[in-house]
Amino acid sequence: MDMEETLPAKGDRVIIAVDGPAGAGKGAVCRAVAERFGLAYLETGAIYRAVGLLALRQGVSDEAGLAELARTMPFSFRSVGPGRFGAYLGEEEVTAQLREEAVGEAASKAAALPEVRRALLHFQRGYGGPPGVILDGRDVGTVVWPEADLKIFLTASLEERAKRRALELREKGETASLEEIRQRMAERDARDSSRTHAPLLPATDAVTLDTTPLTLDESIARVTLLVASVLHP
Ligand code: DC
Repeated sequence: MDMEETLPAKGDRVIIAVDGPAGAGKGAVCRAVAERFGLAYLETGAIYRAVGLLALRQGVSDEAGLAELARTMPFSFRSVGPGRFGAYLGEEEVTAQLREEAVGEAASKAAALPEVRRALLHFQRGYGGPPGVILDGRDVGTVVWPEADLKIFLTASLEERAKRRALELREKGETASLEEIRQRMAERDARDSSRTHAPLLPATDAVTLDTTPLTLDESIARVTLLVASVLHP
């Protein structure tokens, strides 16, 4: 992609950037808050996961090849029911496959490559119309939307995030030991935080919210207040 390419401007939209590590509750919190305020919601991790899925399917692992996948993949979100969106590659729904552990791993590896990140920037900046959009990810407030109206860094202790993930897996009927989950999460955190390009870091002007002691409803309530303060100042 041409580095000089013009990226979509903020225009008439309120932009809310929510970053943080895996399992901090970003998805559930952002989905609820977006619905409440009638904002679009983009889970940017899903785009990286789509690249990961295609990389596994096609056996691609070099940076140029992965960036080409990122540039050309026919990725979209489509409405699949009231308030529910599915991830699609062309006509194929891949929502469930994107959640697989191996796909998350492949996504995290592809996400460390600058060319891949650059290729996904346009999609992220172009997503959602007025009144605005909530995006969650790792570098939304630092790289994708440095001019966001509100930046939140949502985090929780590794122990707590691993417990939440274990519960989620159990509810889906899958089993994995807490120790195994904790180990994988620690590795993923380390890779996402230590990469030289767009590492997981709070923006200097982000509000940090540690959800370790909070229930999901409490986390939603805190973020709702923050978002309300920028939508209705
Ligand atoms: O949030 P997630 O677990 O679905 O993200 C999958 C991987 O994609 C994650 O390990 C890091 C990467 N990612 C990223 O680098 N930047 C983003 N904005 C979102 C995800």
